[in-house]
Amino acid sequence: MTSTTQPSASGARQAHPDHLSHVIFITAAAAMGGFLFGYDSSVINGAVEAIRGRYDIGSGTLAQVIAVALIGCAIGAATAGRIADRIGRIRCMQIAAALFTVSAVGSALPFALWDLAFWRVVGGFAIGMASVIGPAYIAEVAPAAYRGRLGAFQQAAIVIGIAVSQLVNWAILNLADGDQRGEIAGLEAWQWMLGVMVVPAVLYGLLSFAIPESPRFLISVGRKDRAREVLAEVEGHGVDLDARVAEIETAMRREHKSTFKDLFGGRFKLLPIVWVGIGLSVFQQLVGINVAFYYSATLWQSVGVDPSGSFFYSFTTSIINIIGTVIAMVLVDRVGRKPLALVGSAGMAVSLAFEAWAFSADLVDGKLPETQGVVALIAAHAFVLFFALSWGVVVWVFLGEMFPNRIRAAALGVAASAQWLANWLITASFPSLADWNLSGTYVIYTVFAVLSIPFVLKYVKETKGKALEEMG
Ligand code: GLC
Repeated sequence: MTSTTQPSASGARQAHPDHLSHVIFITAAAAMGGFLFGYDSSVINGAVEAIRGRYDIGSGTLAQVIAVALIGCAIGAATAGRIADRIGRIRCMQIAAALFTVSAVGSALPFALWDLAFWRVVGGFAIGMASVIGPAYIAEVAPAAYRGRLGAFQQAAIVIGIAVSQLVNWAILNLADGDQRGEIAGLEAWQWMLGVMVVPAVLYGLLSFAIPESPRFLISVGRKDRAREVLAEVEGHGVDLDARVAEIETAMRREHKSTFKDLFGGRFKLLPIVWVGIGLSVFQQLVGINVAFYYSATLWQSVGVDPSGSFFYSFTTSIINIIGTVIAMVLVDRVGRKPLALVGSAGMAVSLAFEAWAFSADLVDGKLPETQGVVALIAAHAFVLFFALSWGVVVWVFLGEMFPNRIRAAALGVAASAQWLANWLITASFPSLADWNLSGTYVIYTVFAVLSIPFVLKYVKETKGKALEEMG
């Protein structure tokens, strides 16, 4: 083992450019789980009305069939940490890939409504697993200096997954002459929408065979030689590998074994850091981001935009989402996670308040008055932009890196399941809240965006540039 550069845990380490491109490949492969997360969670929108028609069900049942997948997500997120600690990060990705695959086939070819719901839950379980394993693995293999940017690959993959699912849905719809239940080669359009996910799912599985197991997992199961090889692969041969292994071992010994019990500081008292993770997750959802992605078509149609215009705005929002995410990827290691989160919260609060104002106008001939219509559109796009360049990226980066090594997987699982439950709460409540008062609904989201500011200022610690071994 060569021993040339600093072994200390302090400060950011620079990776050699060759290694960096390799690390980028590894990160991108792991982030395929994020792509499937985005794809699978938003693909359903193209199929909703067709499912309603095929099974002849009302909105209530339909909402349950859709939202039940998010419960699968919460369970998948809660268990992925344990599975990853026991059998490794890579095996965990392979299980998720297999579940994504069977769920795509199963939900494309259901023989009954309950069968469709079952396969959506299975897919949800895989999404939940992917939402935990991606950020954890990336944080564990990324050199500290690039960890924020590499961690942001997960969110980039999620937002690309959302945009691609919309494009694919639209293309399939066109092949079926604009009819969601129109037939293409013996199957209805919506079945193709759900089934096409087999392609990225299989690709995810294949890519997982091409990337190394996390050094921290290898050390935890006593495979130090292999851990050294992987560290050389991702941090470069210039790094003192023995010192790195020793550093990780010491950090792991200092912390205790990762079980759910260890997340508690007393009988019913979760460790403060776990609460911070849960808070970040929950605030990310309570600002109502997924209303923009799951319900945008319904939202715009309710204020008088025609269906094709609504599809167009859903698409422009998802492009804005990608642009914001790319900006955040550039900024996250430069300005840090906290400043981004704060700017994002402020920007989201203002945009949401404008949306609330615009939606408070009385509809004229089923439409918003012109000024309010324009303000609503601009504010909706500004909201997604502020979310994307802050909380979208920052929360997943934080969750991957903020917890001490030994509780990372379990703590990330708990925080991510809280996020899925909050997502479920917003998703399941939006239709009734919107019926009650659309403007009032946006006031609620505005309040959460405002509250997220003191939360970040008071409880969240900056993690920029610190080695994972320093988190405590
Ligand atoms: C984040 C959120 C997810 C949302 C996405 C939108 O990843 O966790 O719920 O759909 O951002 O870009």
